[in-house]
Amino acid sequence: MNALWKTLHIISMFLAFAFFMAPNLFAVVALRTRDGGAIKRTVEGAKIFDRLGGASIGLGVVFGIITALTGDISLLSGWLVTAYILLALIIIVGEGLVAPRLRRVAAAIGEQGTMSPDAQALIRSSGLGVLTLVPPALFLGVVYVMVNKPFA
Ligand code: HEM
Repeated sequence: MNALWKTLHIISMFLAFAFFMAPNLFAVVALRTRDGGAIKRTVEGAKIFDRLGGASIGLGVVFGIITALTGDISLLSGWLVTAYILLALIIIVGEGLVAPRLRRVAAAIGEQGTMSPDAQALIRSSGLGVLTLVPPALFLGVVYVMVNKPFA
């Protein structure tokens, strides 16, 4: 039974990675084009993936907790606490820093997709090129923690 929960946990977390991270990476590419229409459409099109990502990560956490409980693993073991911290950072950076900045850039772009000087300046000063890469990097960190279980 434990193997089933673990499998469901891993599938949900990989889906969460795809749903959350792919749109982030597309945003990096769209920002580089400096094409207002492409940036606006990418940011707006990513909203559905955000919701799917949220649902997948929620399921992944539930299945992860069940995996621990059915596998006699303490929910307070060092590696799981490390994973909670990394997961919190993923949400803080993704939802607290990246998403609002992307929304601000999209809002500064005109209806016709025309790049305003405001939008150009926002893109330059937002640090989005680097910030968007932080959540995927942290996600890979969680995979390392799950597989190698440091601070057991
Ligand atoms: C609150 C968050 C999480 C909890 C409670 C949790 C819990 C667990 C537990 C109990 C196991 C089984 C370990 C074992 O049987 O030895 C596991 C394995 C695994 N988890 Fe998580 N996990 C969490 C987050 C994540 C995330 C975010 C990812 C993906 C990025 C992930 C990917 C994996 C993988 C790949 C394994 C298989 C590792 C192995 O058995 O070698 N987990 N997790």
